[in-house]
Amino acid sequence: MRLTMVGTGYVGLVTGACFAETGNNVVCLDVDAAKVAMLRRGESPIYEPGLSEMILRNAQAGRLSFTTEKLAAYQHADVIFICVGTPSDEDGSADLQYVLRVAADIADAIEAIGPTAAPKTVVVKSTVPVGTSHKVRDLIASRTKIPFHIADNPEFLKEGDAINDFMKPDRVVCGVESEHAAAVMRDLYEPFVRQGNPIFVMDVRSAEMVKYASNAMLACKISFINEIANLCERYGANVTSVREGMCADKRIGNQFLYPGLGYGGSCFPKDTLAVVSMGRAAGFECELNAAVHRVNQAQRSHFWTKVEGVLGKDLRGKRLGFWGVAFKPRTDDIREAPAIALMERALAAGAAIRAFDPVALENLGKALPAAEHARDLYHAAEGANALVISTEWNEFRAPDFSRLATVMPSKLIFDGRNLYRREAMHAHGFAYHSVGRAPVDGRR
Ligand SMILES: NC(=O)c1ccc[n+]([C@@H]2O[C@H](COP(=O)([O-])OP(=O)(O)OC[C@H]3O[C@@H](n4cnc5c(N)ncnc54)[C@H](O)[C@@H]3O)[C@@H](O)[C@H]2O)c1
Repeated sequence: MRLTMVGTGYVGLVTGACFAETGNNVVCLDVDAAKVAMLRRGESPIYEPGLSEMILRNAQAGRLSFTTEKLAAYQHADVIFICVGTPSDEDGSADLQYVLRVAADIADAIEAIGPTAAPKTVVVKSTVPVGTSHKVRDLIASRTKIPFHIADNPEFLKEGDAINDFMKPDRVVCGVESEHAAAVMRDLYEPFVRQGNPIFVMDVRSAEMVKYASNAMLACKISFINEIANLCERYGANVTSVREGMCADKRIGNQFLYPGLGYGGSCFPKDTLAVVSMGRAAGFECELNAAVHRVNQAQRSHFWTKVEGVLGKDLRGKRLGFWGVAFKPRTDDIREAPAIALMERALAAGAAIRAFDPVALENLGKALPAAEHARDLYHAAEGANALVISTEWNEFRAPDFSRLATVMPSKLIFDGRNLYRREAMHAHGFAYHSVGRAPVDGRR
């Protein structure tokens, strides 16, 4: 099939590359000319394992191309996927200006191109409040009388494992209002569900809701375990043991129940707020989702009070080392990253910062120019008054602790990701503060 992806962010690029991989002819359209130029040179503007290779392979095979030319891109397509951002507006609602701008562009292009053999299918892939795909449909219909089909197809990929998630999805959700759109979506996705995972075809509004309900549930799990971790700290329990005991119950399960610094990234924070805002717009208070967000934001402050409790509120003349900038491992995405929130607090308290992250330092440079970039783990910690661990990259899990103790005489670690056993840290001679577990001090 001939497809056009509108927006070459995490979703548009991964979706475009994976659809090209199964033999479709894909054009990726973006208004950001610099991004498109990079992609044409064969460079990926984002770090996502396996993505660069997939882009290059499919571009060389002639199945994947990049453009800023709207009319040509829309002319090319049997199916148009809207994959632009839906960030939080000031009041927490989803800002739909990019989606609606694209809808207007599509309408004008359909009108200019004229009738085609089969009407084009316009698929909303961005995460949007319930009713938005109908707004897109109505906006297009208000600008052209040429027929088209509408669908909503939320995306569930995880940054850091996006290709795998797209190639082997747990499920595919398609909201449609015509047999034609249902058939198009089934044809497109069947190669990805050969092992029998379901393609759910439903009404458009329910499809839109599935995405928010899924993200809200995952966010809820994280805030839940963080609240339990905070309770553990006050009652001398160890959240690692509590978690084990609790998660053995199959009804609870062990996924997504890790205490830490709370969730970040471009989805959970904004989608939780959007759920609350959807409720408010309908005169309904989503109290649980509002609390999930409050607990999440408070988790960073709660962690920071541990740092202040040891080093004091005035950090002038002190330096903190940071391990991890990205909001989670295997991505360079720092949107809403807890690490950035902690670094901002450190800088505001007068501290200097030296941070290491395997792939996110370039983005850190843009967000917080005052933060120094470390060459490696040990350079970040060298001479620091304390080390803060803010992302659970695999390469942070088993460092050389004797080397770390040598370069960082303070031997003070605040671990926001519970990477190590407390007993081991005591034995290695560190003062070690983590989440939901009592601190230990093995310094001699
Ligand atoms: N990032 C994720 O992990 C993820 C996962 C699932 C769903 N989503 C949802 O998918 C959507 C996109 O997310 P993202 O992280 O890929 O966004 P992004 O911000 O990384 O990328 C959006 C892209 O759209 C481009 N764009 C904006 N207006 C345009 C226009 N008029 N025409 C063409 N291009 C335009 C921007 O230049 C940018 O490159 C959001 O609604 C998000 O909530 C994201």
